[in-house]
Formats: sequence, C-alpha cells, structure tokens
Amino acid sequence: MQREPGRPKPSDMDDLLRVTGLSKSFAGLANDRPIEILRDVSMRLSAGQSLAIMGRSGAGKSTLLHVLAGFESPDRGEIRWEGQALVSMNETQIDRLRNRRFGFVYQFHHLIEECSAIDNVSLPLRIASVPRQSARERAKAILTRLGLGDRLHHRPSVLSGGERQRVAVARALVHQPACVLADEPTGNLDEQSARQVFALFRELAAESGTALLLVTHDPELAKGCDRLVVLENGLLSES
Ligand SMILES: Nc1ncnc2c1ncn2[C@@H]1O[C@H](COP(=O)(O)OP(=O)(O)O)[C@@H](O)[C@H]1O
Ligand SMILES: [Mg+2]
Repeated sequence: MQREPGRPKPSDMDDLLRVTGLSKSFAGLANDRPIEILRDVSMRLSAGQSLAIMGRSGAGKSTLLHVLAGFESPDRGEIRWEGQALVSMNETQIDRLRNRRFGFVYQFHHLIEECSAIDNVSLPLRIASVPRQSARERAKAILTRLGLGDRLHHRPSVLSGGERQRVAVARALVHQPACVLADEPTGNLDEQSARQVFALFRELAAESGTALLLVTHDPELAKGCDRLVVLENGLLSES
C-alpha cells in the first residue's frame, strides 16, 4: 500500500513513546567543557507499559524526564509521543499534551497547599474543561479508592507523608493520562508506605491503560515494572 510521504509508519505510531539519539549537555564550571548528561539515548515505550529508570544520583534521570516532557529541549535527537514529534509542536500544543496526556508525581508531592485534597485532585480535570461537579465526583472516587475518603477536605499540611503522596498519585491519574512520569515518587516514604502507594498506583494505572516512566532507587519497585533500564555515563541500557 502506498503511504503518504512523511507520515510515520504504523509501527512508529504504535509506540506511545519513541526516543532516538537523544543528547543533552550542560555547561560545566567556567572554562570547563560542557558535561554530556545524555548521550545518544534511544528507547521505546508501548501504551500501558511500565518502565523503571535507575541510576546513581546525578546520572541524569531527572534531566531525561524533563526532556521527555518537553520542559527542556535536547541538543540532538528526537522524541515522539503517540507518533508526534515534540519539536513539531508549539508551546500551546506541548502544554496540551502535558495537561491531558501526562500525569506527574514528584519526590515531594508538589500539591497546592491552599487547596484541599479534593480540589488538588480535581485540578487536572478542571484544566481539561471538565465541569466542576463531575470533576469533584471523579476526584472523590479516586481518593476513596486510595483510602482517603475521609480526608477529602483536608489540606496537604495536615496530612501524613504517605497520605500526601497518595493525593499526588490520585492527581496524576484522575484524568486517565496516557503516561505518568514519576521522579522518585516514593523517595521520602518508608519502604512499606512506598510499596503500598506503588501497588495502588499500578492497580489504577492498569485500569486506565496508563503507562509509567518511574525513576526509582528502590529495586523492589523497579522489579514491579514491566521493564528496567539503567542510566550510566549518559547511556541507557536495558536489563
Ligand atoms: N539546568 C542545569 N544546568 C546545569 N547542570 C544541570 C542542570 N540540571 C541538571 N544538571 C546537572 O546534570 C547532572 C544530572 O542531573 P539530574 O538529571 O538531576 O540527575 P539525577 O536525577 O539522576 O540525580 C547533574 O550533574 C546536575 O548537576
Ligand atoms: Mg533526580
């Protein structure tokens, strides 16, 4: 069959994420050469798949996630989400991709302190123009699933670390994104809470077919993912 020139091949479009030849350097100290944090990184992620990213501190894991989410641009290489190259998108389109197709979880929860749990979780839906009442209903449902049904109107400051992180997980998943990007999401929790949060996360993500890019130091969490890659000296290797 003839294909239109320039259209991605179907195999490219089947990938949720496809990265080829990504490089990123940061300027070193004065007069130093730039430091290459990512060199020729290539990877693929299918819809609904979970991928753990490990590597020592300073290896470039956060940088990789920032570049993949379009917060920073690579020096070289290409990133395609659902077949569409990030470089071909303008700021508005990248914002839209982030707001509608991604969820984010960070080591420290990044919740809005002035807002209750239910308002924090409603936010991604409100940004996607879901009416207030149904946004709140969906937020309530997912918070209840995460065991926070009696914490809906609490502000982050009165919640425990584990509870806050469950609110962050709810906020990352409530709009059923294509992919959650999580940067050491359980880093400030004890092991048991971390694994509980992660187990709930996996359960909900599986229901909505959400993929996961998980930066973690916890080998147990990494083992719970479909795939594991290690970032070392700017290179990504799969094990
Ligand atoms: N904006 C930046 N400017 C200069 N150097 C940076 C910047 N962001 C990160 N780095 C450097 O890049 C390296 C990788 O950082 P990072 O991606 O945060 O590593 P990781 O998340 O694996 O701990 C570190 O040496 C860090 O100091
Ligand atoms: Mg980091």
